[in-house]
Amino acid sequence: MGDELLYLNGRVMPLAKGRVPVEDRGFQLGDGVYEVVKVMNGRGVWLEDHLDRLHASLGAIGMPQALQGHHLEEVLPSLVEEGKVVSGFLYVQVTRGVHPRDFALPERVEPTVLAYARSMPVDAPDLIEAGAVLHPVEDVRWGRCDIKSIGLLAAVMAKDEAMRAGADEALFVGSDGLVREGGSANVFAVLGGVLRTHPADRHILNGITRQHLIELAVGAGIEVREKAFTLTELLSEDGAEMFLASTLRDVLPVVRVGNRTVSYGQAGAVTLELAQRFRRLQAVAAGLQPPGA
Ligand code: PDD
Repeated sequence: MGDELLYLNGRVMPLAKGRVPVEDRGFQLGDGVYEVVKVMNGRGVWLEDHLDRLHASLGAIGMPQALQGHHLEEVLPSLVEEGKVVSGFLYVQVTRGVHPRDFALPERVEPTVLAYARSMPVDAPDLIEAGAVLHPVEDVRWGRCDIKSIGLLAAVMAKDEAMRAGADEALFVGSDGLVREGGSANVFAVLGGVLRTHPADRHILNGITRQHLIELAVGAGIEVREKAFTLTELLSEDGAEMFLASTLRDVLPVVRVGNRTVSYGQAGAVTLELAQRFRRLQAVAAGLQPPGA
């Protein structure tokens, strides 16, 4: 941990030495966006996809030029390499910059661009096998969940509520009853043999993991429908499967939602098949020998 390196506005320093002024708009207004990239085998997995989404988020908040001159495609791998991170993640955050507090967009301000890499143990296989318990909460987040905003208060409060209820993760459900996504992961279900997930509209983040899984499922001949489902649909079908999908959790089977068992309390066949295909694809992206090859 002591060697963790921080890239902050063009300079590299020990993470513990990083300082951002009090009037940074990210700190005061949540005016910024971020990315989390998985590191495996000392490589940022699907780094380009994450950088593309970071650019999309920046474009959506009116900062299309924010990364000019930062060369993150070189900076990020060098943070991983110099920091000797083999397994872990990269965190990247861009805020609108430092300016006297004002809701109006400042005319001339340098964005605050920061990134660091951190080692993290790989999830133990028994945790993955046990499966996750979700706690449904009303989705009270804003209407632009497609932007990876640093304003995460609703997700923080939902996670706290989930943990107090003895669950692993919150499940955001819209006031229309439709399942949107997890607190920090997308959600898939297998209903009537069809792989279902919420469409990539403004209600969810279009996860990189989600996108790869959809492609993998199509390639495996599994029917995919990007159409939201309700909790009632899920819970009224015996053997319906469900799983979470995100950069930090990969494919995580869901075995319970609230006090109701899902998928007979264990990972379903389609989930396991997709998880295996995902592990192979991810290993190749990380420059590793695919498991079972
Ligand atoms: N979260 N939905 C939400 C709300 C998320 O925060 C995330 C990721 C995802 C999955 O996206 P991806 O597959 O690109 O990681 C979906 C990251 C990991 C986080 O905030 O820690």
